[in-house]
Amino acid sequence: MVAAVRVHKTGGPEVLTFEDVTVPAPGAGQVKIRNHACGVNFIDTYFRMGMYPSPVGLPFVAGNEGAGEVIAVGPGVTDLKVGDRVGYTAALGTYTAERLLPADRAVKLPAQISYEQAAAMMLKGMTAEYLLRRTYKVQKGDNVLIHAAAGGVGLIACQWANHLGANVIGTVGSKEKAELAKKNGCHHVILYRDEDFVAKVKEITGGKLCQVVYDGVGKATFPASLDCLRPLGMFVSFGSASGQIDAFNINILQTKGSLYATRPTLNHYAAAREDLVAIANDLFAVVASGAVKIPVNQRYPLKDAQKAHRDLESRNTTGSSILVP
Ligand SMILES: NC(=O)c1ccc[n+]([C@@H]2O[C@H](COP(=O)([O-])OP(=O)(O)OC[C@H]3O[C@@H](n4cnc5c(N)ncnc54)[C@H](OP(=O)(O)O)[C@@H]3O)[C@@H](O)[C@H]2O)c1
Repeated sequence: MVAAVRVHKTGGPEVLTFEDVTVPAPGAGQVKIRNHACGVNFIDTYFRMGMYPSPVGLPFVAGNEGAGEVIAVGPGVTDLKVGDRVGYTAALGTYTAERLLPADRAVKLPAQISYEQAAAMMLKGMTAEYLLRRTYKVQKGDNVLIHAAAGGVGLIACQWANHLGANVIGTVGSKEKAELAKKNGCHHVILYRDEDFVAKVKEITGGKLCQVVYDGVGKATFPASLDCLRPLGMFVSFGSASGQIDAFNINILQTKGSLYATRPTLNHYAAAREDLVAIANDLFAVVASGAVKIPVNQRYPLKDAQKAHRDLESRNTTGSSILVP
């Protein structure tokens, strides 16, 4: 038996139950991993609440991001062996000391990437990669707006967009977060709870507006985010920390400047093994170079998963949070 955090019925943070579970031997194509750290993500709250249905039904082990060592391999697994250090994402069932994982979802960690770094970035950093390098390819000189700039995805994306040569504008919920965002790649920071962020973006860009808006906030920043875009600009709605955007008339994209809009998810960008590995390697390279740092600003013992969720949902966190089994 090993310690895990399970959800037996969906709801608030109180449904995260710390208990023992049995992890069987790995089946064909699977590996067993001893987690050294588990990432905490906003998506974990969507599964906990039932907004995203659990693919394995109830109960389920929470969590979508982690890193650890391979402790057993199942039949047919050829490219991983016991003792390998791996990171992974997009496979519900991470808040646990040990877990099974399809071997083709694990990525070997380079020596210079620690378990904690990996657990803090396999989901958030790979998301930053595909958003900035694939959904809209950020170019030198682009004006880029990133909402919740001091958050987990936000701090990584801001550093990376800066590294790519963009003029990075970030929105944040407090003065402390503004300081942090400025130290992590933002050229300009907007306190969007106090200031009209559309007016500020107009001012900052001299009326030229942005080539792209990366919006993981959702309801609270829509449709104003569209007004930050120049004609033919790209609205990337990649999350809904404040709630989901209501249905809207697609003609709004025409009237606001023949805009593009997309609602992407890492699951699709990294569905093929070769894409998963390419995205991960791009992330490992930018972190190993020192251009992007992975701020692990909250650490909790696994048994405190409820507190980790409360802190995340009450906007009390910055950068990445991890649970340590
Ligand atoms: N599509 C994908 O592939 C993908 C992958 C990973 C993450 N995501 C999305 O990316 C977003 C960020 O995820 P994360 O795990 O890195 O979380 P996070 O950014 O660390 O936390 C969410 C942040 O959103 C802001 N926020 C604004 N309104 C809020 C509200 N009403 N309640 C709570 N927070 C609010 C807060 O920052 P301020 O206080 O500064 O406003 C908060 O810190 C989420 O929407 C998540 O679902 C999407």
